[in-house]
Amino acid sequence: KILQKADSILGLMTLDEKIGQLNQYSVGAEMTGPGDKGSTSQKRYEMLLNGEVGSVLNLLGAENTYKLQKQVVEQSRLGIPLIFAYDVVHGYKTMFPLPLAESCSWNLDLMQQSAAVAAKEAASAGLQWTFAPMVDVSVDARWGRVMEGAGEDPYLGSLIAQARVKGFQGNDLSSNNTIAACAKHFAGYGFVESGKDYNNVNINKHELLNRILPPFKDAAQVDVATFMNAFNDMLGIPSTGNSYLLREKLRQDWGYEGVVVSDWNSIGEMVNHGTVEDLKGAAKEAIIAGSDIDMEADAYSKYLKELVENKTVDISLINEAVSRVLVLKYKLGLFEDPYKYADSARENKELLSQENLAVSREMASESIVLLKNETNLLPLNKKKRVAVIGPLAKDKDAPLGNWRAAAQSNTAVSFYEGLKSALGQEAMISYAKGCDLSIGPNNFFDELEINETDKSGFSEAMAKASNAEVVFMVLGEPAYMSGEGRSRSNIGLPGVQLDLLKEVYKVNKNIVLVLMNGRPLTLEWEHENIPTILETWHLGSEAGNAIADVITGQVNPSGKLTMSFPRNVGQVPIYYNHKTSGRPSTAPGQVFYTHHTDVDNSPLFPFGFGLSYSEFEYGELKLSKKALEAENDSIVVSIAVSNKSKVDGNEIVQLYIQDEVGSITRPVKELKGFEKVAIAAGETKQVSFTIKPENLAYYRRDFTYGTEPGSFKVLIGASSAVSNYKTFTLK
Ligand code: IFM
Repeated sequence: KILQKADSILGLMTLDEKIGQLNQYSVGAEMTGPGDKGSTSQKRYEMLLNGEVGSVLNLLGAENTYKLQKQVVEQSRLGIPLIFAYDVVHGYKTMFPLPLAESCSWNLDLMQQSAAVAAKEAASAGLQWTFAPMVDVSVDARWGRVMEGAGEDPYLGSLIAQARVKGFQGNDLSSNNTIAACAKHFAGYGFVESGKDYNNVNINKHELLNRILPPFKDAAQVDVATFMNAFNDMLGIPSTGNSYLLREKLRQDWGYEGVVVSDWNSIGEMVNHGTVEDLKGAAKEAIIAGSDIDMEADAYSKYLKELVENKTVDISLINEAVSRVLVLKYKLGLFEDPYKYADSARENKELLSQENLAVSREMASESIVLLKNETNLLPLNKKKRVAVIGPLAKDKDAPLGNWRAAAQSNTAVSFYEGLKSALGQEAMISYAKGCDLSIGPNNFFDELEINETDKSGFSEAMAKASNAEVVFMVLGEPAYMSGEGRSRSNIGLPGVQLDLLKEVYKVNKNIVLVLMNGRPLTLEWEHENIPTILETWHLGSEAGNAIADVITGQVNPSGKLTMSFPRNVGQVPIYYNHKTSGRPSTAPGQVFYTHHTDVDNSPLFPFGFGLSYSEFEYGELKLSKKALEAENDSIVVSIAVSNKSKVDGNEIVQLYIQDEVGSITRPVKELKGFEKVAIAAGETKQVSFTIKPENLAYYRRDFTYGTEPGSFKVLIGASSAVSNYKTFTLK
């Protein structure tokens, strides 16, 4: 029905109007009116009123979006409503943890809820489309955008992608509480060479199929409304003009019918990639490949008409793309009521509501990963004299992270505030900043400047530390040190923070290192010396409260890492599901095998790792049988997990499988299941997983998808470092 409606409008449209639907601009509040004569704003405003723009990004707020929508609907010839889009990546006004942080909760329902709250807030502010979730698998912590993803594993990444899409879109896209989601960046952006943003991607087709595409395919399966191209090339062709990705995989193999939007000027950047001569060539390649909407390159608006008129581009391609955009507008309910999202009263009530903040706090406390607690400094004995030290301890901005949508700077609950309110009036807390971190502009557009020399605050920090029983060192990255354009070649604690930590350690060894960062860091010295390490990422609006919940034991930490932490940057890329290589031996004293001579092969903290205040013990792995005989056959693998402590806790029990012999080289382990189980103090729970042949399928040597008979190892454990296994065969 919706398609018919779209077709009937399509029949009324001129070629210019059709191309308009494929044109997307970034629009500011100044473009809701005529603007200065001769300015870009004025030109764009006129194009908007002429129906030459189909969707806009970056215009916010019920009032602004209502105003522009009204003019476009009332003044353009056909009155086709705009879609308002924005990067609602981890919250709109109420900030949630970075997606990478959220992924460490492994709590799919909660991540879905977090996206649903973000959608509800964004929709009340007049938006209908978010450019999220980013579903790029990434194994390189140097890349600044790992903060936006779900880590290094395609299986977990797929489930999280689906949860987040369902959260944003709900069951009914036309509801004024839900927004269209966007699976991005299609494809391979997480594999930019040397972790340098926008760089090229050199990856083979098997890796593309087995490692990169699964979360995209699974997002398509739950009807994600849109896809976004990647900036990078894939198999030698820019993703934006890549018909293997867009036509063969997305449309043909997966049957995807939603909208594909380019990334910002990614059509224009095809010229820089050097596969087309000019913007006209880029427009042609992009539309032929299947990119429907041109974000900010002005390639479609400038050249599609000519390309259609001189028959270089068939009109059917334009019709197809426009019809997809119109269908999305119908699905969003915009034809029925173009103003249904923009409601100032609802916006006022919805944004930063107590209810939304409560979800953010819960999500944040579940995202925290306890990396070390050797001397049981945590949970904190509230009677202890505490020193809080570090440039991020009172920082109300860093926890908001990058891609913070409409959040106001400096509005998160700081670590210090959270701890103070949790410990109450009598709390004995002293504070010293210790050093500055960023000493220049700290925003989305400017390059950060980090303090590399000034240590004048060290002596005060040392004095405070020496008077305390427990020292909280709150260190890490400022908000804009990760995210787009924020690749780093060294991923240790930036600036003079490690020096500060070493100095404080000289006077007091009872240190809890509280990390706030947007990517895995190298922490070798810290790990060797500091007894307690808490990874809190950038946790959003309620950061300080959520961290205090964990520190005081109100919440027992249960997060587990979704990206390996390297020992040093030379190990990067490092990921648990690597291949074996021809010389995998780790026997000491050997020279000629796969290793670095100066560092162990293992990561500092592996994928799936995280501690709890409880102590879990795993029993013996049991298999219901030793062979899978037929396609619908299954094996149940189970294990007893006991909580040996006096504290109730949640454990993320993980199932891994290794395909021992394949037609191509296979990963040493692949996550195939997990369960987050609540286990009371002293209790034992049986956890079981069902393995079917379909769980063993992959893209084989001839690029077909399916299984191969043979022997498989199965492992269940607390992290990807698990080594006890049993085997079974697939006949
Ligand atoms: O959605 C983003 C994308 O991830 C990076 N470039 C800009 C887009 C729109 O803001």
